[in-house]
Amino acid sequence: MALTIFILRLAVCILAFPMYLLDFLGLWNWICKQWFPYFLARFTVMYNKQMESKKQELFSNLREFTGPSGKLSLLELGCGTGANFKFYPSGCQVTCVDPNPNFEKFLIKSIAQNRHLQFERFIVAAGENMYQVASGSMDVVVCTLVLCSVKNQEQILQEVCRVLRPLLERRMSSDNQWSADEDEGQLSRLIRKSRDSPFVPVGIAGFVTVVSYGLYKLKYRRDQKMSIHLIHMRVAAQGFVVGAVTLGVLYSMYKDYIRPRFFNRYKK
Ligand SMILES: C[S@@+](CC[C@H](N)C(=O)[O-])C[C@H]1O[C@@H](n2cnc3c(N)ncnc32)[C@H](O)[C@@H]1O
Repeated sequence: MALTIFILRLAVCILAFPMYLLDFLGLWNWICKQWFPYFLARFTVMYNKQMESKKQELFSNLREFTGPSGKLSLLELGCGTGANFKFYPSGCQVTCVDPNPNFEKFLIKSIAQNRHLQFERFIVAAGENMYQVASGSMDVVVCTLVLCSVKNQEQILQEVCRVLRPLLERRMSSDNQWSADEDEGQLSRLIRKSRDSPFVPVGIAGFVTVVSYGLYKLKYRRDQKMSIHLIHMRVAAQGFVVGAVTLGVLYSMYKDYIRPRFFNRYKK
């Protein structure tokens, strides 16, 4: 067994030796930077085909983050060839950051194919240090297939937080009203929750109405047995609640999955 492992290791080392040598000479990184964009351009076509619906869903709410200027400023970190451009909303101001300058050629092609966007600039920099991007200047930062291969994820996330517009400011402009959770009263929280899940209050109201009506009718049930009357009341109340829950689930599926797809198709 040990001998087999040794032979396999030796084979891998021999096969990988040219890479070690190029790395030792400081050329491997340069070669990767030259050729990776060509590989990624091909890979992206296949990948986007597979991920089309997922990406549409993922980017469907970008407009909600539009800033007070009325324009959506988006920073794509590790933009590569611009594979995500076609999923961004019209008029979106796109700034690209990537440490590999060889992507520029591919980005230009992507920009030409996505005239609905307003391209700002391409910054050659690593996400760990984006000093060229002003603090609080971005509404959205997009980063796909990048964080798995960077040197320092934490530093990148700190930079992302720095360039993003402050959270409270974003909330205010998206709702056009003050909506910080901390300042939200009990009543307004209830109203907001009811708006988000309208079938919960409908279910509760229906349950209370059916039970109240059943109890009210208790006196006038004539020769019907009390237990039968109560069972009818319970079944009706339960039926109402189950119906409301089912409608709520269907509604949230429509809201989260079906509506964004139709909306995107319509936009195209
Ligand atoms: C697998 S590609 C993904 C490209 C593109 N985001 C996409 O979804 O198609 C990874 C990209 O991250 C970039 N990258 C690598 N290290 C980075 C870093 N430290 N900061 C920002 N981008 C980085 C690479 O140059 C490359 O363009």
